[in-house]
Amino acid sequence: MAHFPFKMADVELLKTEAYVQGTWTAASSGKRFDIEDPGTGKVFASCPDFSASDVDAVVESSSRAFEEFRKENPRSRAQKLLEWDRLIRESKDDIAQVLTYESGKPLAEAHGEIEYALGFTWWFAGEAERIRGNLSIPSQPNRRVVVTKQPIGVCVALVPWNFPIAMILRKVGAALAAGCTIIAKPSPETPLTCLILANLAVKAGFAPGVFNVITSSMDNTPEVAERLCKHPLVKKVSFTGSTTIGSLIAKHCAEGLKKVSLELGGNCPFIVFDDCNQEQACEELLKLKWRHAGQACVTANRVYVQSGIYEEFVATLAKRTSILKLGHGMSSDTTIGPLTTKRGVSKAQKHVEDAIEKGGKVIVGGKSGKGLGDGFFFEPTIIRDAKQSMLISQEETFAPVLAVYRFDSEAEVVKNANDTSMGLASYFFTKNIDRAWRLLENLEAGMIGMNTGNSSAAESPFGGMKLSGYGKESGKDVAVEEYLVSKTGTMTLEGHY
Ligand code: SIN
Repeated sequence: MAHFPFKMADVELLKTEAYVQGTWTAASSGKRFDIEDPGTGKVFASCPDFSASDVDAVVESSSRAFEEFRKENPRSRAQKLLEWDRLIRESKDDIAQVLTYESGKPLAEAHGEIEYALGFTWWFAGEAERIRGNLSIPSQPNRRVVVTKQPIGVCVALVPWNFPIAMILRKVGAALAAGCTIIAKPSPETPLTCLILANLAVKAGFAPGVFNVITSSMDNTPEVAERLCKHPLVKKVSFTGSTTIGSLIAKHCAEGLKKVSLELGGNCPFIVFDDCNQEQACEELLKLKWRHAGQACVTANRVYVQSGIYEEFVATLAKRTSILKLGHGMSSDTTIGPLTTKRGVSKAQKHVEDAIEKGGKVIVGGKSGKGLGDGFFFEPTIIRDAKQSMLISQEETFAPVLAVYRFDSEAEVVKNANDTSMGLASYFFTKNIDRAWRLLENLEAGMIGMNTGNSSAAESPFGGMKLSGYGKESGKDVAVEEYLVSKTGTMTLEGHY
């Protein structure tokens, strides 16, 4: 049995093998890859390193399971989703520790992610029974047309490391509600929580093969993902991650005309007008930006503050950021954890150096967390006097680095906010109702936060526009629709109608 640096109440919950057909499975090569604790840089577990040649057997298992699962009654699927929800909740203390060790996020945030993620199992349990087609009377006489919805088939979830539980439950919950089987390929940094979820799904009553999990190293992930996307039995791929990889996934899927949904990068603007409630704007920004050390696609990358309140707002932001405590996610006084990867630290450093070169002033933080051992730490950082020409304005930073820009007019800020290839989320704070309506219509993003820094919820559609991708996850109807196909039946009736 593996020895972890934490104690679990249920020692059977976490196994470090892939989970295929309800069986803990090694890679055919016997190779494994290491999983590091971002808070210490130390390896604490390993998982099987699947390669492309291991993929076919997994897809075939999912395909066999689909032949039975597609016929299962929606109420039965809903009951299993609810049981899964219950089992996850029952084990949440164990799961939260594993999440903190694999992702680095503070334990309180790990609990927060699980709570958020359980919104999806709960929501999709409800959605399973509400899948509807329709019946219509067409223009041709003596005819009726029926549209019926069916599960699309074997699906694939390619999942990132920043919210490894929420992203799994958001994708897998929708697929199972629709009656599809699904293969998850978690990120090499965070496969462990995904394995626990699959283990609990089988315990909740989903047949072996309905939810399979493949693990692979950073080196093998591209070939495994490509094989999954190109496998003829795979009908739908849902990917969350960078725009660069998302566009590659779309290319792989184009060959077989697979249905695809892509939730990609952010670079989200957060706009603070003179007439807002400053306390509310600051509080929402702090929660949004420092959540998982800035490693969320929906985080605020660029903060635009109107001239009249710029100095006051920046000073409050700096004061409240400087009291954050950077440290290991398991330490009880930690309020901001490490980055999940070492490369994240290098990117943060590069963005800060570029901003300084172009006239930005670092007023809080600015350095990697030296003195905290070999963990992947970067201080929560605020750069004032930011400019559109800076790297941080053009790319998603994905780190605890916040750039603050000054603006004068609404027209100017809308132009700058939209001046990005991305369009995931935008946020604004104002008490002017006319302006709020204009911004809702004029900001180019799939999700608009109006006097709030958080629009993520199981019951609201999640997804972007422009290079932030397409397709919606969560929300009523739209999320499950991604896992369904429509069939149109047309019937001629005899007699007089
Ligand atoms: C993400 O950043 O990728 C997801 C965050 C969320 O669901 O709120």
